[in-house]
Amino acid sequence: MIIAIDGPAGAGKSTVARGLAKALGLDLLDTGAMYRAFALAAFRKGSDFNVFELIDQVQIDFGPSPERKIRLDGVDVSDEIRSLEISQMASQLSTVSEVRRAMVATQQSIISLGNWVLEGRDVTTVVAPKADLKIFLTASIEERARRRWVEMVAKGDTVSLPAVVKEVVERDHRDYTRDDSPLMLAEDAIIVESFGLSPDEIIERIVAMTQ
Ligand code: DC
Repeated sequence: MIIAIDGPAGAGKSTVARGLAKALGLDLLDTGAMYRAFALAAFRKGSDFNVFELIDQVQIDFGPSPERKIRLDGVDVSDEIRSLEISQMASQLSTVSEVRRAMVATQQSIISLGNWVLEGRDVTTVVAPKADLKIFLTASIEERARRRWVEMVAKGDTVSLPAVVKEVVERDHRDYTRDDSPLMLAEDAIIVESFGLSPDEIIERIVAMTQ
């Protein structure tokens, strides 16, 4: 079984995807974490890198289940990839077709065996267009930015709410308007509005859709 979840930044995809994987005994593939790990690799290179060469130089994979922590060249980078800077870089680099092609190929090979919950921006349209269940998880921009901000402050980040709103607006614009595989609603995806629902309630609804 494959459940694919797309949606804009901060819609709650990660929490819902993790909960769903646990509830249904599926493996979890966080495709955004892969773009973020690639962005971190670019960030570490400073201004001195060629994006096409970097694609062949880095190794991005996941540690063992159930945590499946994202690794860059074998090292867990799951905390480092969550900063605003890396979010923006991931969004920028994800507009490069060669980067997308490499990521999608790896993702399709990962899910070719087993049962998965996938989350991202193109998993219902490009990575797994034949998924058994496709969800488009969304909420208003204010709600998504507020959630992101609460999450970051809880981790000790001193970022302001307006800075996070600005970042989410910019990222939305880029994710929805890029030429290659923009974020869009797949024809057969079910829209789930996450405002006013707890992650558990959303998970319950989606579990019910699989039965
Ligand atoms: O889901 P996330 O916030 O971790 O994703 C970070 C960025 O990666 C997002 O702004 C766009 C890009 N991305 C993508 O282009 N395609 C995906 N399937 C997942 C993420």
